[in-house]
Amino acid sequence: MNLLAIESSCDETSAAVMVNGILRSNVISTQLIHTEWGGVVPELASRAHQKSIIPVVQEALQLANINKNDLNAIAFTRGPGLLGALLIGTSFAKSLALSLNIPLIEVNHMQAHVLAHFIEDPKPVFPFLCLTVSGGHTQIVWVKSALEMEIIGETMDDAVGEAFDKTAKLIGLPYPGGPLIDKLAKEGNPDRFVLPMGEIPGLNFSFSGIKTAILYFLQKEQKANPDFIENNKADICASVQKTLIEILLRKVKKAMKEKNCQQIAIAGGVSANSGLRARLKEMGLEQNWEVFIPAFSYCTDNAGMIAMAGHFKVLAGIYSNQNVSPLARMEF
Ligand code: KG4
Ligand code: ZN
Repeated sequence: MNLLAIESSCDETSAAVMVNGILRSNVISTQLIHTEWGGVVPELASRAHQKSIIPVVQEALQLANINKNDLNAIAFTRGPGLLGALLIGTSFAKSLALSLNIPLIEVNHMQAHVLAHFIEDPKPVFPFLCLTVSGGHTQIVWVKSALEMEIIGETMDDAVGEAFDKTAKLIGLPYPGGPLIDKLAKEGNPDRFVLPMGEIPGLNFSFSGIKTAILYFLQKEQKANPDFIENNKADICASVQKTLIEILLRKVKKAMKEKNCQQIAIAGGVSANSGLRARLKEMGLEQNWEVFIPAFSYCTDNAGMIAMAGHFKVLAGIYSNQNVSPLARMEF
C-alpha cells in the first residue's frame, strides 16, 4: 500500500508518503509570509498552499522513491482548519486521485495529531488519554481506537496555543510566539510572577481570563516602569509558561483519575513545548503513568500524521468519494 498524504489546514503545506504503514517521507513547507502580519492571514495561506503544493508533493514522492503511478490511495485533511487552505489540499487530492483512478481518504486533522503517536515506537495501547494542544484547539481525548475517539474536555474560549502566541505578541515577540516563549522561559524564573489560574469546573479549559490578566498585569507594570517588559522578558515567559502548563496538567490529572487510565499522550503544536514535556514526564513518574511524547517533527502540523490516520482507515476499508468537500469545523 503506497499512500500519499496531504496536509493544508493552516500555514504548513505538507506531503508524506507511507508504504505499508511505514513513513517514507514527510516534507513540510512552513509559510513565512504570516510573520510580518503577526498571525496567519487566511487568504495569504491559501495562495501560499497553491504555490507550494506541487513541489512539496513532488519532493515527498522523490524522497520516498515512489512514482506517482505506483500510488494506491491519497489521504488528505478534510478539516478542521481554514476553509480556503483546506480547499487547496482537498482539490489537489481529489484531482490527483481522479486522474490516477485511486481511492481518496478524508482525515480529521485533530484525530491525526493523536494518531501521530503510531508513526514511531513506543506506541500507546488503546484505550489511552491524549492531551491535544495546538493553535486552534485544546482537547482531552479518550482514544478508544484509531477510529473511535471522544473529546471529554475542551476549551470554552481560546486555545492554549493562542494564549502562548498572544502573550508573545504583548511582549513584542514575532508570530508564532509559542516556540520563542519556550526558548526565553529556559533563562527565566517561573516563580517570579504569580498569575491567576482562572480554573473552571470539570474537564474543560478557559484561557481567556489568563490572557486578560496578563494584559492588565503588563500594562500596570509598564506604567510604573516603561522598561519593565524589556528588562523582565525571560521571567515573564517562564511565569506565563508555568501557569499555562499547570492549568493543562491539573485537568489531565483529573481526567486520568476519572478514566482510571495509566497511559497519557500529548499531541499538537504546543506539545513541542519543552516545559510541558518535562513537567509531564515528572508527573508520570509521580503518578506511575506511562507518558508518550511525540518526536518534535510530529508535534506541529505535518502530513506524516495524516498518512498514519489514513493508514488506519485503509485497514478498516473506509474511503471517501469524489463528492467530499472540506469542513472548517469538523466533529470527531
Ligand atoms: O498544531 P499546530 O502546528 O497548528 C495548529 O493546528 O494550530 O500548533 C501551532 C501552535 C502555535 O500556537 C504555536 O505557537 C504553538 O503551537 N507551539 C508552541 C511551541 N511550538 C509550537 N507553543 C509553545 N511552545 C513551543 N515550543
Ligand atoms: Zn494542528
